[in-house]
Amino acid sequence: MTPSPAVPPLYTPPHPRPMGALPSLLRVLRHGDGNLLELLPAEAYQFAVGNLGYSRRSTVLFNDPILVQQILRDADGVFPKSDLMVNALEPLIGSSIFVTDGERWRRQRAMIDPAFSQLRIGLAFPAMQAAVADHIATLRSHAETGQSFSIDLAMSHLTADIICRTTFSTSLDSGVAHDVFEDFTEFERSVAQVDIFRLIFQRAWAEVEQPASVLAACERIRGHLGTLVDSHLAPDAQFNDIASAVIAARDDASGEPFTRDELIDQLGVFFLAGHETSASVLTWVFYLLAEQPQWAARLRDEVDAVVGQDTIGFEHTRKLPLVKAFFRETLRLYPPITFMPRVALEATTIGPRKLKRGALVMISPWTLHRHSDYWQSPHTFQPERFLAANEAALHPGAYIPFGGGPHVCVGAGFAQTEAILIIASLVRAFDFKRADTGPVRPAARLTTRPAQQIQLHVACCSQGAS
Ligand code: HEM
Repeated sequence: MTPSPAVPPLYTPPHPRPMGALPSLLRVLRHGDGNLLELLPAEAYQFAVGNLGYSRRSTVLFNDPILVQQILRDADGVFPKSDLMVNALEPLIGSSIFVTDGERWRRQRAMIDPAFSQLRIGLAFPAMQAAVADHIATLRSHAETGQSFSIDLAMSHLTADIICRTTFSTSLDSGVAHDVFEDFTEFERSVAQVDIFRLIFQRAWAEVEQPASVLAACERIRGHLGTLVDSHLAPDAQFNDIASAVIAARDDASGEPFTRDELIDQLGVFFLAGHETSASVLTWVFYLLAEQPQWAARLRDEVDAVVGQDTIGFEHTRKLPLVKAFFRETLRLYPPITFMPRVALEATTIGPRKLKRGALVMISPWTLHRHSDYWQSPHTFQPERFLAANEAALHPGAYIPFGGGPHVCVGAGFAQTEAILIIASLVRAFDFKRADTGPVRPAARLTTRPAQQIQLHVACCSQGAS
């Protein structure tokens, strides 16, 4: 009798080993880089609602999908975005849709939604293709020289290029766009969405000045964005991009457009939320492909079967279920937005839990996506979970990489189209391999990133399609 082939063991990619609360705190202090992921105790992956850590300020983590949706819907206007996040982002994106609430937010959202319709994404697609084609040329030269490169930086560059081309009709190589990118990189290096030390030691709504380097970078970025906006506001301007759609938008009630300052806020947030998040998840995608060449081969086979020798078109991005499942499973294990902090404006009760005024209400795609009540073998990488045949088994409300409720990500459709195009294009052209063997530590920064950049090698694969 022939022995049946061994079932390959399930792959568990890197994640902080959940420990008790005190050892978790010691781990964070030992590493000294304030990585909130390492502070999460083992119970955070098991409880429905619980206190988080040792903070001076009451910090409550909600993992129950029904309560999470209730908080995100925020029917009574009690849970705006937290002061910690607003404080960190305000110098950069002023009062943009990402940080506002209430009537002001409703007006902004209604004016911005049409810029991200399916129709608009279709119009933006050729600009995405052009950016990906340029990126493939860069990777080909890495393949020829055998030079290793940081996948983190490569994905930041590619997704920033896509945002520049689709929003402002200019590539990242142009002077101003390049300056925006450089200054954003400086900003991201220095700012944290949830600063762990502030979280532990400070009271709600404490006024904390950002470091001078962050404020200076914000001022420079707003100056560059102003130049890009002005090029679109010029009387003879003729653009058909995301910026022009936002400029054309009118407030339903007053008929007024966004002011120049408001445009800088809104378009700045597209740059920030739209490139940093996609770069985060794509960094993990290519790391995971380098670690699992058998998956790279499966994805390549699917792309070959669906696209053949053609250029990957908009319609193809809707017909690649395995590529999409791989992307969604990566978003599950490494959700770019690790935490969505809210603040309780008043003392209130939610589910079984009483909250004090000023309590920090934490919703974490990271813990919800790895929670033992909602996922089987939660830390293992299994894209098949997201194939149509298995989707009925997914726990409703336990998968929230794009948030939920009215503030759900405005760019989710854009991000998915872009990611599928990038994964499909690169996987059919290249094999990816790690250039270093050091341990990989996920860290919660502005988005979920490897604590140290990951170096990869590429080789042109035999099919070598463009
Ligand atoms: C994989 C990529 C992306 C992920 C995982 C992601 C995730 C999220 C999440 C979780 C939120 C909700 C935050 C909260 O409620 O606290 C959000 C909001 C938002 N995202 Fe995304 N995003 C991505 C790509 C994009 C892109 C490409 C754009 C635009 C170009 C964008 C623009 C926005 C904006 C403007 C908001 C604020 C919406 C509002 O408050 O009404 N995002 N995103």
